[in-house]
Amino acid sequence: MSLAYDDLIQPYIVKQVSKQVAYCRCTRTKNPPFCDGSHVVTKITPYILEFESPKTIAICACWKSKNHPYCDGTHGRLVKPKERPAAKSVE
Ligand code: FES
Repeated sequence: MSLAYDDLIQPYIVKQVSKQVAYCRCTRTKNPPFCDGSHVVTKITPYILEFESPKTIAICACWKSKNHPYCDGTHGRLVKPKERPAAKSVE
């Protein structure tokens, strides 16, 4: 199945109010982008992001960011153009 533009992956925009928040690194979470403890069956640990004051951040949703858990815009390069329907022949 080819992707269409309305399949565009968008990052999670999170207003982190709590000083420390755990973000999933294992991809198993049922509550992305937050860690829900599903990683315990792996050796992976979550990202802990800590801010002194509330901060709005873009968290990667495509898992391809080179600066995970932060979005680096890679998602924008993951979408293929929508396949155009075959041109109808005019007799
Ligand atoms: S659930 Fe993925 S790191 Fe915790």
